[in-house]
Amino acid sequence: MKATSSNILVTGGAGFIGSNFVLQWLRDAGASVVNLDLLTYAGNAGNLAALEGDSRYRLVRGDICDADLVAGLLRDHRPRAIVHFAAESHVDRSIADPGAFIRTNVQGTFTLLEQAKLFWTALDDADRHAFRFLHVSTDEVYGSLGPGDPAFSESTAYAPNSPYAASKAASDHLVRAYHHTYGLPVITTNCSNNYGPFQFPEKLIPLMILNALEGKPLPVYGNGSNVRDWLHVEDHCAAIRIALARGRVGETYNIGGNSERKNLDVVAAICDLVDELRPDAQLGPRRKLITFVGDRPGHDLRYAINASKIAQELRWKPALQFEDGLRKTVAWYLEHGSWIESVRTGAYRDWIKQNYEERIPR
Ligand code: NAD
Ligand code: DAU
Repeated sequence: MKATSSNILVTGGAGFIGSNFVLQWLRDAGASVVNLDLLTYAGNAGNLAALEGDSRYRLVRGDICDADLVAGLLRDHRPRAIVHFAAESHVDRSIADPGAFIRTNVQGTFTLLEQAKLFWTALDDADRHAFRFLHVSTDEVYGSLGPGDPAFSESTAYAPNSPYAASKAASDHLVRAYHHTYGLPVITTNCSNNYGPFQFPEKLIPLMILNALEGKPLPVYGNGSNVRDWLHVEDHCAAIRIALARGRVGETYNIGGNSERKNLDVVAAICDLVDELRPDAQLGPRRKLITFVGDRPGHDLRYAINASKIAQELRWKPALQFEDGLRKTVAWYLEHGSWIESVRTGAYRDWIKQNYEERIPR
């Protein structure tokens, strides 16, 4: 069987984390990338506009559930690794419409694993040894922590609470099973909340930046005391590259920012940064836009990651402090008005209406 190339196949590389990963990979690592992405509402080919004319990058618009397409890409490009980001990723959408999450996150991951197994089995010994399937997952598979509970470690029991988390947990289990049963050389990473450039403005941080800028209400679910552990996307991408290069096959690695913050504190910090960078005397301090709204059903109280395994084994730690990363991120959104307009389509506006109309008190 013909040898693998130095190419990697990335799925979901036009989404938030995937596009940051592809940009970082081609900036630092060099080898070519084939990006399989369906370009759903969350995928935007424009995130990778900087790569126009770069012969190392190729976008293939298609579905990870399409076995023939995946088989053809593996046959034609002979990647040495698959880095799997593609997913439905927004918890609120999974509550409103879980079917798409089961399809892409469970069926799609299964399809990729099955095709990867067929491809990998036929490789010669050296290539089979070097091949990797890196599955990008989330800390939400572990469920919710109480205020004093120890942070999630790799041995924390799975207890997913939303349809999104359950679909990611199912995908993690399939990845594990393909290693245990067939020997497929997999690595799974479970990361905490990311923020940074190109995040779709349905998620907390970009939504709040844009609403603050435009003087709209800032819809905080419940009382705002839920805690997330924030990590800048560049740090997450660096951790994935290290796990791909040096991670032990069959292992899982937790990735986190060691930056637990209450939602209300994050939103207040965004208000202050927008006030500083885009003062608006007529509007006054943006904190007054904070509006407590109906809670997310089954809302997990707290996530926190114990990242000591990846720190000790692979020598990874985050480079960016949350406050510095947040400042850079607010500045990025303020400077990228045309990107924002390009993603705020009619379908986006419909979603915002659907998700917030009932919650916001009149
Ligand atoms: P995203 O929603 O921004 O992007 C998902 C991408 O997948 C989009 O480009 C979309 O077009 C593509 N896609 C969706 N369905 C597809 C299909 N059937 N076939 C091919 N492509 C498809 O998501 P994200 O925030 O960048 O998350 C990427 C991955 O990282 C996900 O697996 C997510 O579970 C995981 N993760 C996200 C975070 C976070 O904070 N955002 C944290 C930890 C883990
Ligand atoms: O922990 C990792 C996960 O982080 C990823 O696996 C998911 O893909 C990603 O979307 C994210 O999930 P969260 O549900 O934590 O992120 P989100 O930005 O949707 O919400 C963050 C917190 O803010 C959460 O407690 C809910 C709250 N929130 C969110 C929105 C959109 C609000 O209070 N108001 C809002 O309008």
